[in-house]
Amino acid sequence: MRLFIAINIPDKLRERIWDDARPLREYGDAFRWVAREGMHLTIKFLGEVSVDREESVALALESAATGISPFVLRLGGFGAFPSARRPRVVWAGCESPSALQLLQRQVEAKMAEIGFQKEARAFHPHLTLGRLRRNADTSQLKGMVGLFDRLEFTGDVFVRSVELMLSELTRAGANYTVRKSVELSK
Ligand code: 2AM
Repeated sequence: MRLFIAINIPDKLRERIWDDARPLREYGDAFRWVAREGMHLTIKFLGEVSVDREESVALALESAATGISPFVLRLGGFGAFPSARRPRVVWAGCESPSALQLLQRQVEAKMAEIGFQKEARAFHPHLTLGRLRRNADTSQLKGMVGLFDRLEFTGDVFVRSVELMLSELTRAGANYTVRKSVELSK
């Protein structure tokens, strides 16, 4: 099973992001766009995990969420990795409140205890909207730089839970399902 840990956001906010990001999708062909219902904030990608380990992953997630109260997450703005000039991953941005950072560190620590490799890269929370296609013609993308600056959106999410997610890759894109939802609570 291809598993990851994520924060999901309410449908209404996903709709808004989708609507506000419409001008970006005019660069349609160069990117594989994440389906509107598929947007999420990844905390940790676990990769292929054998079915018999799912239970221990779920338990580790429960333990990682312990002691973290629900918190407000402010989303806002659009951008790209590695940069707006060379957009490979197009994202909706979000702030990185201390509760989110603590959750991410605790997830890393608890997953490391059960054998998952720690993420070497710094945590830059974001919601991926699109990924550049391998053979994309990037000469068409110059206009995106200004667009990232011009497009605006903000939205607050009250984060009450963190989810263990299953990703199933299909020809039409990835399908995501919640395998376990863990409530945050002090
Ligand atoms: P991203 O949004 O930052 O791209 C499910 O595949 C989620 O896991 C994606 O949203 C992706 O985060 C994240 N992820 C991290 N590393 C990955 C990898 N090597 N392969 C696929 N997804 C990965």
